[in-house]
Order: sequence, then C-alpha cells, then structure tokens
Amino acid sequence: MMKEKLFDKFAELFGNTEDVRFYFSPGRVNLIGEHTDYNGGHVFPCALTIGTYGVARKRTDNKIHFYSMNLDNFGVIEVSLDDLSYQKRYNWANYPLGVIWAFTEKGYKLDSGFDMVIRGNIPNGSGLSSSASLEVLTGVILTDLFGIDSLTMTDLALIGQYSENNFNGCNCGIMDQFAVANGKADNAIFLDTSTLNFEYAPVKLKDAKIIITNSKVKHSLVDSAYNTRRQECADALAALQTVVDIQSLGDLDMETFERHKAVIGDAVKEKRAKHAVAENQRTIEAVAALRTDDITRFGELMNQSHISLRDDYEVSCEEIDILVDLAWNTPGVIGSRITGGGFGGCTVSIVKNDAIDTFIDTIGKAYKEKVGHEAEFYTVEIGDGARRLA
Ligand code: GLA
Repeated sequence: MMKEKLFDKFAELFGNTEDVRFYFSPGRVNLIGEHTDYNGGHVFPCALTIGTYGVARKRTDNKIHFYSMNLDNFGVIEVSLDDLSYQKRYNWANYPLGVIWAFTEKGYKLDSGFDMVIRGNIPNGSGLSSSASLEVLTGVILTDLFGIDSLTMTDLALIGQYSENNFNGCNCGIMDQFAVANGKADNAIFLDTSTLNFEYAPVKLKDAKIIITNSKVKHSLVDSAYNTRRQECADALAALQTVVDIQSLGDLDMETFERHKAVIGDAVKEKRAKHAVAENQRTIEAVAALRTDDITRFGELMNQSHISLRDDYEVSCEEIDILVDLAWNTPGVIGSRITGGGFGGCTVSIVKNDAIDTFIDTIGKAYKEKVGHEAEFYTVEIGDGARRLA
C-alpha cells in the first residue's frame, strides 16, 4: 500500500520509478528514563512499527527535491547542493536538508543531487519523534544512494542529533535518533547516554500491551522550557562538581545526591537535579525488573517517573496529568506516565489485554468531558530500526 502510493507519486513528480529505492524509519516511544539523556543517564526507549516511509533516487545534476505526501501543500521543495542553508520556506524539508548539511560538515560530500518523496504515519505533533524518524531516514537514504558504508547506525543517530542541534536549532539529546536508528522488534533499548553502550531488553509483557494515549495538546513553551531545564541541570552539576568527582548527574546515586545537594543552593535547580538522579536510578531498576518478569514493579516505577516529572521536573501539564490520573484509577493498568519531552504529547501505559477496551472507552469519555476534545489511543508494536526495504 505505502510502497505503491509512494512509487505512484514519485512517477507522477519525477517521470518514472526506474532505480527508485524504498526505505522506512520508525517513530519511538520511551518506556522510562525521561530527561536523563542530556544528563549522562540511562534511557529505555523502543522503536515503533509506525514511522516514515521514503522513496529516493539519485539525479545527474546538483538539485535536491523533497516532497511530503503528508504536507503536499508545500509541493516539491527544491534545494541546490551548492547552498545547503536553513530557509524558513523549506519548512519540514529543513530536517532532511540538515542531515545532508551534517554529512558534508563531517566530510561526506555528495557527488549529485537526488529526489525524495516521503509519507509518514506518526500522528503529527504527538511527541513520537517524527523529526528524528525523518532525520535517520535521510541518513539511511544518503548512505545507501551514495555508497557510504563506513557509517554505523549509531553514527547516523549522532548525525541526526547534530543536524537537529546545529541546523534546526533544537538542543535535544541522543535518545530519539538512537532509538529510531537502533530499534529492534519486541525489544527496548537500554542505553547509557554517557558512553552510548547499549543492550536490548526483550519486552515480554505476557498478558498486557503498550498503549499510547495522545492528549492532542502541545503547549508552545516546549522548546524554551526544554532548554531551561537543560541549563538548570548544568548549573546543578557544576555546583555538585565542586564537592564530588562526577562527569554528569547520571554518575550520582540518591544517597550521594542527598548528602551533597545543599551545595546547589537553589531550590528549583535542586528539584531538577533530583529528578535527573532519581530517574536514572529508576530506569536501571526498571530494566532489572523487566528482566526478571516483574512487570508490576516496572509499572510502579513508571508511575513514580510520572510523579517526578510532574512535581520535580515540572514538564507535565494539566491535560497529561488528567490522562495519567484516569489511567491510574482504571483497573488493569500496570503503569502509566508522560512520555517524551513534555508539555503535552502522549502518555505511555501498560494495560492488561482484557482491560484495553474499557481503558480506551472510559478514559476516552472522561477526557473528552474534562478537557473538551478527544484523546487518541494507539496499541503499538515494537519494531525494527531504520532500513532499506525490498
Ligand atoms: C525529547 C528529546 C530527547 C529527550 C526527551 C526527554 O524527546 O528529543 O532527547 O531529552 O525529550 O526524555
């Protein structure tokens, strides 16, 4: 279906489909370990089976053409290889363009332009990483079309992050691109962001599933608040480093943090740092619990993660708290929390199979009543990372 639609569109726009190649890059959801990736802590995300599909082919001149079937009102966006600068009018195409720019910055110059058509099925603005998905998709397309075989999937994740930080101006950590690049079906990724060492952990939920609930709100302070949180953590770290020998907040356990926290000297920064330290410890414990099939403990830690993000890190919002409260009060819910950057977006819940229908029905109705608009529910599967498809 997807392939046919993309190939038809490609032929319509660029003449035919000879030598056109087909690619996919997933979205991601983070199960636990939120706002730890820029604090040298652990994260535990997984790639989804929804994501961004793309078709592409090299050209013989130096033009690059981008077309999105989701945002077809922008038409074909044309950029010359000789001028890879950020332009507001390029809109969504600044993401793939940023990756091309990052490739050339890192010494991988392209010898021609190319045509690229994409179509995604990640709900817009949901916080399931449609931009990271598109960045890593572009990385896979470039390495494949131009025969660059020295880059690993982790390199593509780093290039995606580099382009987002330096071309698109969002100061994100590595989690999203890493999960999209290195995803593995039925597994979550236990990543140590201080070393980029990672292990896959099978997500065996027995009689339960992962449900993502989209609040369908995205508060505008998201980018500025994200950067403020980063700065607050950096300040707290600098203060702590005057008394303990650490590289990041992820190096601390709770006990050491409690012993030295007074040196931070600012109540807000202390709360932020407390979250970063506690969330990292929770993530390590949650993965251990999952490995011993203790789903109940995993769920409890998800709930604690939410409380910490709500009260100490203060990145939740009314709508998300309503969804999480409703989930906590629904039978058959093992755990529920906000996921992603915050200030809207989605919650992630683990729900017993026989309770899923009631979960969707009762929370759906109550949310509509309280907030005034509908939430959306997705029962998701954990899929593989970005790749070329047949
Ligand atoms: C966003 C960022 C990630 C990470 C999360 C919070 O998704 O892109 O790097 O910091 O927020 O865990």
